[in-house]
Amino acid sequence: MPLANGFLRQEDFSSEFFFELGFGVCEDCSLAQLMQNVPREKMFHSEYPFVTSSSRRMTEHFHNWADDVVRERLSAADPFVVEIGSNDGTLLQPIAALGIRHVGVDPSANVAALAQSKGINTVCRFFDEETAKDIVHKNGCADVVLAANCLCHIQDLHSLAAALEIVLKPQGVLIFEDPYLGDVIDNVAYDQIYDEHASYFCILSVKNWLSPPGFEIVDIQPQNVHGGSMRYVVARTGAHAVTPRVSVLEQWERRRGLHLLETYRQFALDVNRSRELLLAMLERLNKEGCRVVGYAATSKSTTVLNYCGISSALLEFISDTTPMKHGKFSPGMHIPVRPHEDFQARYPDYALLFAWNHAEEIINNERAFNDAGKHWIRYVPKVEAF
Ligand code: TMP
Repeated sequence: MPLANGFLRQEDFSSEFFFELGFGVCEDCSLAQLMQNVPREKMFHSEYPFVTSSSRRMTEHFHNWADDVVRERLSAADPFVVEIGSNDGTLLQPIAALGIRHVGVDPSANVAALAQSKGINTVCRFFDEETAKDIVHKNGCADVVLAANCLCHIQDLHSLAAALEIVLKPQGVLIFEDPYLGDVIDNVAYDQIYDEHASYFCILSVKNWLSPPGFEIVDIQPQNVHGGSMRYVVARTGAHAVTPRVSVLEQWERRRGLHLLETYRQFALDVNRSRELLLAMLERLNKEGCRVVGYAATSKSTTVLNYCGISSALLEFISDTTPMKHGKFSPGMHIPVRPHEDFQARYPDYALLFAWNHAEEIINNERAFNDAGKHWIRYVPKVEAF
């Protein structure tokens, strides 16, 4: 597989980076994870192409989350909030606007600069023990540490736990949200698997990861974003009451077999079947002379295109709203990425919805596409055109 966000120019095709994308689960700790990690500097750098505020729905989601944090978690005098992977500062913005002390940490210079330009205090570096020590030295320990779709990107979870021990106050909480493994498996959302996502969390694996260094999950809240996410609230063991929701979901995970190899063997069969169905549909449409384009050059699309072997013979181009991707080609399969205006100027017969996690928002915005008698194709949770 190439890098999921490695959109590239034609002159760079010959030097493109590839690695072995393997998905495995640890029989001891139940952590679903990549079998080989890509060096982090290859993925998180000064041209990181994802900007949180690019989705209105996600911006709303983060602002609601920030409001909850302010209401429920910041009663201490002069509270202090740290966000790991703060991107353009969308989650911290409402907190900063209230004059609450905060620091965002993000290793990608371009998005960190966007946050700084909005007045969000941001340090541009990876979050590790050294970063945690520096933050504490300058600001004291944190009441709340936030991480949105970020911890699943951090490869060394033991070093991360050590950094959390340094940065959190004794009563402090870590609140983090990531795509939920149960939804990945149930929805056959294999496109969540790519280089940046080193871990695929569930209650069982988070417990096994964070118990030894002295933390426990005190609450969980399923979230209806990114195709199914989980928000975990973690504190030092014994510091806060634990809600019964945690053990209820843990029991469900055991019944669902998220700790059993046979569950993942079945997942592999389901993923293979999904590929067969999608390819059969695209090949049929191609034979019928239909124009098919991709909608949104997402990181997830890289896994689908390369795993299924979908080239520009089957997909004319991918439409995307991010200027940084225009004129470039998709990683690995080298399908051209073009502005959204090209999609609107001449509707294709079918649009393959790579941003299926934003389906509601997109289908609503593009009502004219369906009204013109054109069709969407999606492949999660099942392959279908509509
Ligand atoms: P991601 O899923 O890797 O975060 O990437 C989202 C990409 O999808 C980003 O390049 C913007 C693009 N996009 C569109 O082109 N149109 C849309 O309506 C949405 C929601 C995203």
